[in-house]
Amino acid sequence: MMKKTMMAAALVLGATSAIAEPQAEVLHWWTSGGEAKAVQVLMDEFAGRGGVWTDMPVAGGGGDAAMTALRARVLSGNAPTAVQLVGPNIQEWYEEGVLANINDVAIAGNWDALLPEAVANHMKCDGEYCAAPVNVHRINWIWGNAQVLADAGIEMPATWAEFNAAAEKLQGMGITPLAHGGQAWQDATVFEAVAMGIGGADFYRAAFMELDEAALTSDTMIAVFDQLRTLRGFVDDDFPGRDWNLATAMVMNGEAAFQIMGDWAKGEFMAAGLEPGTDFLCAPTPGGGFLYNVDSFAFFAVDGEDKIAGQNLLAELTMGQNFQEVFNLNKGSIPARLDVLLDSFDYCARRSSYDMNVASGNGSLLPSYAHDMALRGAQAGAITDTVTAFFNSDMPSQDAVTALALAIKNSM
Ligand code: GAL
Repeated sequence: MMKKTMMAAALVLGATSAIAEPQAEVLHWWTSGGEAKAVQVLMDEFAGRGGVWTDMPVAGGGGDAAMTALRARVLSGNAPTAVQLVGPNIQEWYEEGVLANINDVAIAGNWDALLPEAVANHMKCDGEYCAAPVNVHRINWIWGNAQVLADAGIEMPATWAEFNAAAEKLQGMGITPLAHGGQAWQDATVFEAVAMGIGGADFYRAAFMELDEAALTSDTMIAVFDQLRTLRGFVDDDFPGRDWNLATAMVMNGEAAFQIMGDWAKGEFMAAGLEPGTDFLCAPTPGGGFLYNVDSFAFFAVDGEDKIAGQNLLAELTMGQNFQEVFNLNKGSIPARLDVLLDSFDYCARRSSYDMNVASGNGSLLPSYAHDMALRGAQAGAITDTVTAFFNSDMPSQDAVTALALAIKNSM
């Protein structure tokens, strides 16, 4: 059960009494150059409204280390005020009875009218807001070094066959075709983009949302692992353990031609002063579809007017027009708020917004499993463990498919 009365009381208090100095200790994993620049926007706005922000960044792309740190804090009875949380993790913490309720802030801010229904639903626990959305990230992007591709006479690939042909040509020229970081979540990010591209939305939904055994053990899934095996042949030998933003840097400096990664990668290109369309290119991964995740702040039940005032202020600012625009300009994602104009955003962002609307219309707008939007932790972990074991071995695709179905069964 979420703590409600405290919130309503604090909301009233916030309006009348100046004694509650808003305080927030914020746990997140936005530590790369572009991400740090983006979260600074919220820190400045919070301070501008008299808030005191205690930053708790936990390095490690994808957030696994941050989630480990969070669990330790909650178990020790000292939860942070606010936490970057994604997808069903929010509801999983709610079921443990440790989340605060921000529904009053959401009603005052008219969030239901400002958010796509799918995004609003991800932010609710038992029908009431328990998290504030920050953005919409598209996961299935491919990024390219414009000069390297121009010199090689290569267009951004629209099919996996085109990608493989381009990659072989680049390899022949001594250029690493695919910059990749050998971490399980990065392997999973590439895997789900391949699955969406080869199998399509219905296949993706059946396999990674409904965990349908027929889809999981299908010839389509074998074809997905076959393509992942092919991609394994296009990365450099030093990929194991590499952080995602260092792989992005390989594309920036021309060491590699492509990277498959969510649009937080664009935040890195932009933070380095590079121009989309000129220095680097963006395109949906071959086969298309739109896989998304939504970063959000969830608020843990804490005591003290100052902390509750901090949560109210943070929730309000997170859904504020200025933050939604400036944060996302830096972060590489697009605003969650529907009424933020994209005039100041680049063509990749406008493409993301356009594709999201098209995908929403034709049923191919789907939550990322690799980034914790589609499944609960145990099932998502079972898939990712199988995928990374496959990527880092010479396991045949048929064995991977069998292992995948078994791992999911065992995770139930
Ligand atoms: C995702 C998160 C993004 C970005 C990425 C890389 O899970 O939603 O905001 O931080 O990890 O760390």
